[in-house]
Amino acid sequence: MKPMINIALPKGRLGESVYETFEKAGYGCPALREGGRRLIFESEETCVRYFWVKPSDVAIYVERGAADIGVAGKDILLEYTPDVYELLDLGVGKCRMAVAAKNGFRYDGAKTLRVATKFVNIARTFYNEQSRDIDIIKLNGSIELAPILGLSDVIVDIVETGTTLKENDLSVIETIVPISARLIANKVSYKFQYDAITKLSEKIAALTAQRAQETK
Ligand code: PRP
Repeated sequence: MKPMINIALPKGRLGESVYETFEKAGYGCPALREGGRRLIFESEETCVRYFWVKPSDVAIYVERGAADIGVAGKDILLEYTPDVYELLDLGVGKCRMAVAAKNGFRYDGAKTLRVATKFVNIARTFYNEQSRDIDIIKLNGSIELAPILGLSDVIVDIVETGTTLKENDLSVIETIVPISARLIANKVSYKFQYDAITKLSEKIAALTAQRAQETK
């Protein structure tokens, strides 16, 4: 019998749309469509086992081999640099990592810039490259509040539609990097299940390319 491929999917809308692509590629798992609160689903027919994982934890499951492959945002890969292979840009979950501040904000070069963010490493690398002195304030959510309440001068955060910034009188100052969902693989699994993982990755790549063509 063929070995199962263990796949960590990010819980939520992104994961559900990614699963549809996997299903189209021939890796369906009917039990997953049944809903409910179960977190693990497998299909002996297609030799896949899916886990619903908190999006920011997918890379940990894959790095440690609890999952062979998974779908993680480029933001998480840049922030935590997990030791995994990045196989494919899935072209979904598109957004950008950006610096934002209150409308009308101007940098004062003489002062240390106070930066609130969940993405400490991304922010530090970005400002290091500019040789700018910063004070990082690590927050876990609702980052947009920080400049409004005077906790920070700027934020480094994910901007998707821009609505959260707009509704809080903030705007983007600089884009750091575009973000999208990536297919990642555990390094050992990639070696020992090379044929199965490559086959899956190629099928997903073909569907991704087809979708990009259709939405052009
Ligand atoms: C993310 C991000 C922004 C928001 C941007 O937050 O931190 O707050 O989405 O989206 P928009 O540009 O479409 O408005 P998330 O919902 O992940 O929650 P968080 O506050 O816990 O970071």
